Amino acid sequence: MSPQDLAKRQAAEAALAYIEPGEVLGVGTGSTVNHFIDLIAEKRLVADIKGAVSSSNASSERLKQIGVPVLDLNQTGELSIYVDGADEANPALQLIKGGGAALTREKIVAAASRKFVCIADRSKQVDVLGKFPLPVEVIPMAQSYVGRELFKLGGKPKLRDGVITDNGNVIIDLHGVAITDPLALETTINQITGVVCVGLFARRPADVLIVGSTDGIQTIT
Ligand code: A5P
Repeated sequence: MSPQDLAKRQAAEAALAYIEPGEVLGVGTGSTVNHFIDLIAEKRLVADIKGAVSSSNASSERLKQIGVPVLDLNQTGELSIYVDGADEANPALQLIKGGGAALTREKIVAAASRKFVCIADRSKQVDVLGKFPLPVEVIPMAQSYVGRELFKLGGKPKLRDGVITDNGNVIIDLHGVAITDPLALETTINQITGVVCVGLFARRPADVLIVGSTDGIQTIT
């Protein structure tokens, strides 16, 4: 396992402590979350979990494989915790997410959860968000229009080739914008007609960020 992968696994392992027995768990998407799901099985915690709401088909499959029932968010009510990774996190625990194209469902599950526990390796920590291209999920017929509107914000929008989201939409990645006011940019992009969701988690930042590294675990609240 590479040092980065080990760091992701350490962060994922620390997040197991946030699982509330008998509750429905929110589970995100990505390689760090894959460690979290694998560890639930390895540490024999499956029986503690009533079920999970997942942010992607890929995570749903992985959860089912270890025996965790995957539930519909419309049947569960509020979730106790949501565990997910991030592409970038700033000191206010605002995030860029959506590198795996699951941003819309991730934002929905995060919004429906009391606590958002973000798990990441240290490479995800930044002072200012935006080095990682900002993912925007877009209704296909609005792709050109939204691209032009995003261009006006000062960055370079690029269609993510060959990617269709679980919701049947496309992803435009906005490159080259230093996000000094995440709340304002989230609002601006949300207001562009044809945008389904922007992968900026500023209005709903993480509540806890667990950072794994070769020096150990750091928990930031
Ligand atoms: C998925 O759409 C993303 O938001 C992921 O949470 C993010 O890309 C982190 O992925 P890794 O855990 O693979 O780094």
